[in-house]
Amino acid sequence: MRATSSQGIGKSVLLIIGGGIAAYKCLELIRQLSKRGITTRVIMTKAAEQFVTPLSVVSLSGENVFTDLFSLTDETQMGHIELSRSTDLVVVAPATADLMAKMAAGLAVDLASTTLLATDKAVLLAPAMNVRMWHHLATARNITQLKKDGIHFVGPNEGDMACGEFGLGRMAEPMEIVAAIESLLSPRIQPLTGRRVLITAGPTQEAIDPVRYISNRSSGKQGYALAEAAANMGADVTLVSGPVALATPLGVRRVDVTTADEMLVAVKQIPNTDLAIFCAAVADWKVANPARQKLKKNDASEPPSLSFVPSPDILKSVAGLHEGRPKIIVGFAAETENVIANAKAKLKSKGCDIIIANDVSEGVFGTNKNVVHFVSAKGVESWPELSKSEVAQRVLAACAGLLK
Ligand code: CTP
Repeated sequence: MRATSSQGIGKSVLLIIGGGIAAYKCLELIRQLSKRGITTRVIMTKAAEQFVTPLSVVSLSGENVFTDLFSLTDETQMGHIELSRSTDLVVVAPATADLMAKMAAGLAVDLASTTLLATDKAVLLAPAMNVRMWHHLATARNITQLKKDGIHFVGPNEGDMACGEFGLGRMAEPMEIVAAIESLLSPRIQPLTGRRVLITAGPTQEAIDPVRYISNRSSGKQGYALAEAAANMGADVTLVSGPVALATPLGVRRVDVTTADEMLVAVKQIPNTDLAIFCAAVADWKVANPARQKLKKNDASEPPSLSFVPSPDILKSVAGLHEGRPKIIVGFAAETENVIANAKAKLKSKGCDIIIANDVSEGVFGTNKNVVHFVSAKGVESWPELSKSEVAQRVLAACAGLLK
């Protein structure tokens, strides 16, 4: 017996079937979702109709199939905006190279791409394409962009392809897609579910002239590990990042900044934060008057001398807020000597609740390891050498405990 939306878990999925040979697997996917009480509405691209017929899809889903952006019948039954919103999750399977390129570019040229641009729901892609298309630089670029936009992925898998080649590009099997859908539809209650977390990461760059700047050795790895761990614990994470060469962790909202001033503006725009972790290595000084044109060595008889002015102390300014102060504020203390004494002093002078102190004299910048001390009003806990991701998990577990 086919379950309906009033049975089972009662959630609904909007399935966009793209034009690829793997489209036939969507019939089994719809059947499996239906068995679990998940209603599936379907959009098919024109190319998809070459691989499976709308009639087969209607027969299995029991719902109308939408194919045309300009169909009067479809638009009167359910407009494309409503279609994109009145669902719990949008799934694209097979997500072809073409559909992903349209999504990455924000194009709205047919019903599928328009719906994807209009939706405010989570989107899961099950890519499928020829192995060379999967490895093409353009596809890699689009995937990086889509991950940055918070799009979820399942697969592709490695194996024999319909085109006779072997490699990555086979669409995930229907049961793998069902598992990914179920986990997105019913996320487990996590320690930071419903909490808003702000993390600053990476260095800032302060201009000397249009081509030169002052910065520091921060790679951003510890801050990004914190953002990833917070998202994995269910938090709504905003990562305000200086210039780094790291991919945005899945499910994390990233705001890119360059200077300390920009970082302060970005941080102050994020409201209602439960937990703020200031991991960025912010430049303490900026050049007083950066040159508008490149400083030319031939114009000067002597090397230029730079004068500096302080840049804003972001952590201190947020910790001092009377209204809208995050419930818990964590700072980092990058020290090369007297690590614990300096960290204790910073806990007070900055007005934060916790300081994670680390000795940055050697072997920390750019590596995956960290040795830190957890400093709070209760005292100092020294942790053994851990990976940056383990440090992140421990810091967040402690903060989640305090937030309870
Ligand atoms: N911090 C900040 N804004 C600044 C400087 C630092 O938000 N302009 C934050 C860092 O993100 C970190 C903490 O303050 O969480 C301590 O940073 P650190 O570089 O260790 O110390 P400083 O405040 O720069 O002090 P000092 O240079 O004397 O060590």
